[in-house]
Amino acid sequence: MKQYNIAVIPGDGTGAEVVREGVKVLNAACAKFDVKLNYQTYDFGGERYMRTGELLPQSAIDELRKFDAIFLGAIGHPDVKPGILEKGILLTMRFELDQYINLRPVKLYPNVYTPIKDKGPAEIDFVIVRENTSSIYTGLGGTVAKGTPDEVTTQVMLYTRKQVERCVRYAYEFTKKRNKRNTLTLAHKTNVLTDCGDLWFRVHEEVGAKDYPTIKREYNNVDAVTMWMVKNPEWFDVIVTENMFGDIITDLGAMIQGGMGIAAGGNINPEGVSMFEPIGGSAPKYTGQNVINPLASICSGIMMMETLKEDAVANAIDSAVTKALESGKIKSLAAGKMGMGTSEIGDLVASLI
Ligand code: IPM
Ligand code: MN
Repeated sequence: MKQYNIAVIPGDGTGAEVVREGVKVLNAACAKFDVKLNYQTYDFGGERYMRTGELLPQSAIDELRKFDAIFLGAIGHPDVKPGILEKGILLTMRFELDQYINLRPVKLYPNVYTPIKDKGPAEIDFVIVRENTSSIYTGLGGTVAKGTPDEVTTQVMLYTRKQVERCVRYAYEFTKKRNKRNTLTLAHKTNVLTDCGDLWFRVHEEVGAKDYPTIKREYNNVDAVTMWMVKNPEWFDVIVTENMFGDIITDLGAMIQGGMGIAAGGNINPEGVSMFEPIGGSAPKYTGQNVINPLASICSGIMMMETLKEDAVANAIDSAVTKALESGKIKSLAAGKMGMGTSEIGDLVASLI
């Protein structure tokens, strides 16, 4: 029997409910393939912060490093000033564990409503590779003369060649393995960001030409990408982009695949420990009501098992999700409108494994 140690961080709001269902489905799938996940739960999040002042201490980071993967619910609490938990827990984890890839598939399952008319599962199926450790997110910059008419503020879009190259290489490798349309599109803004954009452009060209000649290279400005994602999503296979643009276009991606109820992401360190999460937030107003959609968490479990190279388990969960949606029992993916509860969706998917 194969065993993996998984750190579970339910986090804030509805995080605990969706993680519970994600674990339920993971267990059902693992049991079928003689795989065992050993979980250890950590209570990092808003409640702990308000009680103890602790966010994600160094000792916890060192502990997390020893796991095979991290399964996270959501971080964000209405009683904590914006930025504290996000930076202190989520971004700290991504940065400290060097999870330099944020992998966000945009995949429309059958029978799921997309706001894009005339597009279905055949057209909406691409993956966004978002750089996850640098750019404006590093916090480089600052403010002087705050509150005066002379206030000056900067937040710098920082990139090193190495950061860009490891991300672009991952994206090429991913595109090759995916073997779908064998096209890697770089999204940036080279017409204005003539330094940062140029670095990404050159790396995309150089790495592609030298090491991935069979992969088609494309470039689109990121504003145009938002347009094509809606108008012609079938043009995309894999999109690689820097951190801030990736944050924005993956929310758009989530909407075209049916909403935050089903959008999952992986924070991947290909050489270390990766973290998997639903990409929607903690949805505090729905907490404890059994109305939040657990499919995003369940789908992040698919990505976790793929990353652990347990493809049979991942595929089993993926087909169970497909069957659950095809059954027509789930009326909508939106919280409170699903026609069933959070735990009933988990039960349904688990029963279809
Ligand atoms: C996301 C979130 C985070 C981000 C926030 C909460 C820091 O929006 O995972 O996309 O900007 O990366
Ligand atoms: Mn985001």
